[in-house]
Amino acid sequence: MKNRFYVTTPIYYANDKPHIGHAYTTVAADILARFHKLQNEEVFLSAGMDEHGLKIQKAAERAGKNPQEFVDGIAEIFKDLWKKLGIEYNGFVRTTDPKHKEVVQKVLQILKDKGAIYKGEYEGLYCTDCEQFKSENELVDGKCPDHNTVPEIMKEECYLLKMAGKQKELIEKIEKDEFKIAPEKHKNEVLSFLKNQTLRDVSISRKNVKWGVELPFDKEHTTYVWIDAFLNYLTGLGWKGDLNNIPTEWPADIQLIGKDILRVHATIWPIMLLHLGIPLPKLLFAHGYIQSAGKKMSKTIGNVINIEEMLEKFGTDGTRYLLLSAGTFGDDIDITMERLTEKYNADLANGLSNLIYRILNIMEKNYNGIVPNLSAEEIVKSGTGFKFLTTLYSGFSEDIEQYSSIFKDILNKKDYVNYLKLNKMLELICSNDFKKSQEGFFVQKLNRFIEDGKLWEVNLQDKKNNNSCIYSLLESFRLIAWLIMPFMPETSDKIFIQLGLDLKVELKKDFENAVKWGGLKSGKELGKKEILFKSIK
Ligand code: MSP
Repeated sequence: MKNRFYVTTPIYYANDKPHIGHAYTTVAADILARFHKLQNEEVFLSAGMDEHGLKIQKAAERAGKNPQEFVDGIAEIFKDLWKKLGIEYNGFVRTTDPKHKEVVQKVLQILKDKGAIYKGEYEGLYCTDCEQFKSENELVDGKCPDHNTVPEIMKEECYLLKMAGKQKELIEKIEKDEFKIAPEKHKNEVLSFLKNQTLRDVSISRKNVKWGVELPFDKEHTTYVWIDAFLNYLTGLGWKGDLNNIPTEWPADIQLIGKDILRVHATIWPIMLLHLGIPLPKLLFAHGYIQSAGKKMSKTIGNVINIEEMLEKFGTDGTRYLLLSAGTFGDDIDITMERLTEKYNADLANGLSNLIYRILNIMEKNYNGIVPNLSAEEIVKSGTGFKFLTTLYSGFSEDIEQYSSIFKDILNKKDYVNYLKLNKMLELICSNDFKKSQEGFFVQKLNRFIEDGKLWEVNLQDKKNNNSCIYSLLESFRLIAWLIMPFMPETSDKIFIQLGLDLKVELKKDFENAVKWGGLKSGKELGKKEILFKSIK
């Protein structure tokens, strides 16, 4: 039976258009999903929209629309963006879907029957933008640090979810990595939070919010949006709310979130699951925030980087590449449109694209666009020819192994915590930053090899002697196409086509065999050359 892999993204609030942060998490999840598909696993990627609650109710009022009509419009905009970004999701949950709502009500009833939910009163400071109560010590100058707004004092009759009784069990599971939280800094932060106080019970219903799922046992209340939203991770798999029939994909292998929603995902969500007796997700991974020019993006500062603008300028794969190569996945990253453009030009236009175009140009002029004819033995040797690069740049052949092994480790789920190094992998393959050390960087080395060896001149003089060298280069492009596939699937396809390979045949191959040296057949006609990434201003 095939291995299963289930990865989730948060479901985003349907109060406004998508922004770059939403795209960041979702592209990363898509990349992980594609890695696992390459490994021939049964992959499920779930995405969706969080469509209830006060924040959305208010946004709809401002837009002069009824809430359902309003969220319908926003959901379409998100779906459209995912399409433009090449996101291949398998499930898309909208919390206003009647099927989802039914499960939410069932779960609330189960929790009530188990005694995990009780009626009481709650008083606290509520940030509507976060849809969360905030404690005094979380505020900065009396304001929510994420939204720069003063939270409202809220005191009302509500239903509460018991928290403290499950706290010890939760701590144990996190400590033992049964419920793994990563990166490590976040695991420590969550553990210290959990160990330093007794968790307060959480208010899970609202009397004054009409736009939500009604509590099945008290129609005067609607469910707190987070309770409604968390369940998407199960309803997305088609769960009907039956505790004896949990979808086989569960528990999720990776739940990707931004660090802003780590606390709720590491407390309320697992405690709900513990009450229900459902296993906890295997890994909760929180990435950092994208900032711009050293500051949190804000319309007032004018430093917002628009995702649509990025797509227009850099295209689908360019945008995917830039988002994930901008910095360590897991840390905060800082971007500006200028730096993104520079990186696009250096790595993609002058790097990858130029490299392939130049060689295909030589092929067209000097080899009639045909892969040099090499015997099987010569092809193996060309691996040595390829290793000939080693004499120029030490460690070249080892690099290939290194790329494959990083790749394999990720695929083999050896250690996600250490290996969710998406930016590192991209750097090893595509970075064309000459200021950095001479180590690594596949594309850069190939480019240097061509430059320093003045390949054009040599070729014109003596074709025969360069057959094996040319073959090595073309074969390297084939390997690059495999290595970048999860990150830049369109570009990967284009490289295969330019190498004259049949996509249908190619994409059926098993990754491990596909990246073995010698996959490109000699005497094969290459495809039409095309500039993969044009340089831009
Ligand atoms: N609806 C809730 C999530 C419910 S999941 C059960 C929510 N929605 S949100 O629309 O506010 O999206 C938050 C998510 O967007 C973050 O967790 C993160 O994935 C992404 N980002 C939002 N702004 C971001 C940045 N500036 N940088 C990186 N990602 C951030 O919270």
